[in-house]
This record gives sequence, structure tokens and C-alpha cells, in this order.
Amino acid sequence: MSHPLRYLTGITTSGTPHLGNYVGSIRPSVAASQQAHAQSFYFLADYHALIKTGDPARIQQSTLEIAASWLAAGLDPERVTFYRQSDIPQIPELTWFLTCVLGKGVLNRAHAYKAQVDKNLASGVDADTDVTAGLFMYPVLMGADILMFKAHKVPVGRDQIQHIEMARDMAKGFNHMYGEHLVLPEALIEESVATLPGLDGRKMSKSYDNTIPLFSSREQLKKLIAGIVTDSSGPGVAKQTEGSALFQIYQAFANAEETAAMRSAYADGIAWGDAKQMLFERIDQDIAPMREQYQALIADPAKIEAILQAGAVKATALSAPFMGELRHAVGLRKLALPSTAANKPKTAKVNLPSFKQYRESDGQFYFKFLDADGKLLLQSLGFATPKEAALAMSTLQKQGLPGLEGQLASVSKSDLLKISEALKQLATTLKADPLN
Ligand code: TRP
Repeated sequence: MSHPLRYLTGITTSGTPHLGNYVGSIRPSVAASQQAHAQSFYFLADYHALIKTGDPARIQQSTLEIAASWLAAGLDPERVTFYRQSDIPQIPELTWFLTCVLGKGVLNRAHAYKAQVDKNLASGVDADTDVTAGLFMYPVLMGADILMFKAHKVPVGRDQIQHIEMARDMAKGFNHMYGEHLVLPEALIEESVATLPGLDGRKMSKSYDNTIPLFSSREQLKKLIAGIVTDSSGPGVAKQTEGSALFQIYQAFANAEETAAMRSAYADGIAWGDAKQMLFERIDQDIAPMREQYQALIADPAKIEAILQAGAVKATALSAPFMGELRHAVGLRKLALPSTAANKPKTAKVNLPSFKQYRESDGQFYFKFLDADGKLLLQSLGFATPKEAALAMSTLQKQGLPGLEGQLASVSKSDLLKISEALKQLATTLKADPLN
């Protein structure tokens, strides 16, 4: 197989990129996109942003900032497909198709939704307080993002693994009903990428309000770094690298040699002010060239818009014909098209032997066992309750005819073999494919 692997990354446009985003996502993703064989898709998940915020100005601003950040960090829109989710109308369309194959119970178990429900229950309010249907449907929209472009690998943080598994389930469900159209994606977890601590030592995150924006000015960066928490040990007192947020942030930017030098400076009792100065210079060394690009891009939103439009053209060249295929697969077709056998799903259901349960006018409960063509193989006698009839059917499936004497109408010798074969066929199919 010579098909290149397809990677897909989505970034929700509800915030301003910070150093944690850079180290954890932007830097490794841009590096991966520069590898020759990969085919990469990067998109601004602005439909997802609508789930998180109701502030239109914030969404527009965040979309601009995130696009500018990724471009300034070296994402090459010529080489990858870089687009905005809301420019691809096939994504919400696919979302609906997937909505119709996914069990609602699966969504009930989604972490983000469940967390909100648990929080509500713990505080004694209604389970669905502050839960929009959008939050509930979040994983389906994400599934559509991924399946639309037949992504094989989706690099994500651990908190997103469940969403990728759900996308796999949606693809399986769809393929089962309509034939093999969707590619089953896999989560790609970057073990080596550390999470960056924030100003207060906890994970850098908007929700802790402890972030350092990726593109603050030099002065602002310096001021923020001065605010990183340290212990109160004075100059000349040896310092612990372990548990030091300052050290961890330094390590995320420095090479091995620089890190070793900082480690011995700690041991030698470097003053916190000096350590902060070193950290500031080290970060700024990486960020300064990008900062210039970033400022230029932010000042020219029309240029970013044009890049995204070009990305949308590239993306739609794939999504539009694929959606055509999927529409046809589910039966949304031009009426003049014949509904030929060739249009039937590739995994058309094979007919199987079956049981039929029913009640007669005598008030008793009966069952029949039919072969794959619907021909009668076996007829039960009457049972007083449906439970007894069910028990007899289950005995039949488990051990065949022995043990059911006196409960079945007489069976002709020539049907004995057919019955045992039909039971075997049913057993193996159910084992291989419990959905059937
Ligand atoms: N849910 C992802 C996040 O919060 C963003 C996202 C949306 C995404 N659609 C995606 C990521 C598709 C990967 C693939 O980080």
C-alpha cells in the first residue's frame, strides 16, 4: 500500500494561544507536518468554539490569533491542508448522518458531558442544568471532522482519547449499515510531550488563569516570568529542580546541554531573579522571530482570510465528492437514478435462520424456527408463559434438540440435519457480529 498516512488536528477557537499550547501542540504538530511522507490536515474548530462560548467577538478574535500563531510557528499552508471548520458545509452534514447511526447511550457516557451532569447532581440541581445539546453532541461533530477526511491518525491529548474511540464506533456503525465508506481513525498520543506548568505551578491552562500568552511583547513576557512562583530560598542557597515550575518551563525550551547547565546553577544556589532572567532570554530566543511574523499577520487579517479560503478550496475538493458518495450510500439520491443492485451496500445483510415467537388464540405461547429463506424447520407445542417458550428456544440454541422432548411438534428425519446446520450458522454469525 503506497497511500500516505493522513494526520488530522483540530484546534478549538475559543482562546488565546499560550506557551503550554505551543509546547504541547503547536511545536510538535508543526514539526510533524514538515516530515515528507505525511499528509496533514489542520483546522480551526470554530463550530466547536460555539459550544464553549457565546461571545461572537471572542470567537472571531481567537480564530485570527490561532491561525496567525500556527502560521507564525511555521505551519506551511502549501504543504498541509489548513482550513476553518465552518467553511466546510459537508462537516455538519456528515454530523447528521453520524447522529443517526450512533447510540444515544454512547453520548451519555462522554466525559465532558458526564462531568457537567455529575457536577450538577453534586450541587443538587437538575442533571441537565447548563448542558446544551451542543455539549452533548460535541463528540459527533468531532467524529465528522475526522471521518470527513478519512484520517488515519489523530494526535491528541489523553483527554480526547474517548472522542477518537467514539469516532471509530460511528465509522463502524455507518459502515455496517451502508458499506465500507469510512476509515477507522486511531488516536496518537505523544508520550514525550510534557504538560507545561503555569505561573502558579499547576498545569498551564486558561481555566486556572495561570498562562503566559505565546505572543506577548518582550516586556510583558519578562513581567509574567517574574511572577512565576518559587520558594523563598535566597541567593547562595542550593535549589531543588524537582517541582520547580521555572525549571520545567526552561527545560521545555532548552537543549540537553543548557538544561544541564541550569541544573548545576540550581545546585550552586543561583538567585531566583537570575534564573528568571535566563528563562526569559531562552524563551525569547525561540519566540522573537515568530513574534515578528505573528504581528505582521495579525495586522493583515485579509491575508489570513485568503490563506483559509485557499485551504477551504483544497479541503472541499475532498469533502464535496466524498459527501456525494455518502449521500448516495444512505439513499439521498436523485429520483431518476435506478436503485440498482450495484447501489446496495457492500455488506448487505445476509439472511439468517430465525426464531419467531407468537401467541395463539388458545392463549398459549409458541415459537417457530425458520431457515434463512423463511421456510419452517421446527414448530413448538404450546407453552403456558412466554418465559417458558424463551427458555426452550435458548435450550435449542445452546444444545440442540436433546432435552426438548415433549415440547416440539414432531420433526421429520430429513429436517434434522437442516435444523442443526441452521443452529450452527446462527451461532457463528452471532459470535462474529453481535450487531447482526
Ligand atoms: N476537541 C478537540 C480539543 O478540544 C478539538 C477538536 C475538534 C479536534 N475536532 C477535532 C481535535 C478533530 C482532533 C480532531 O482539543
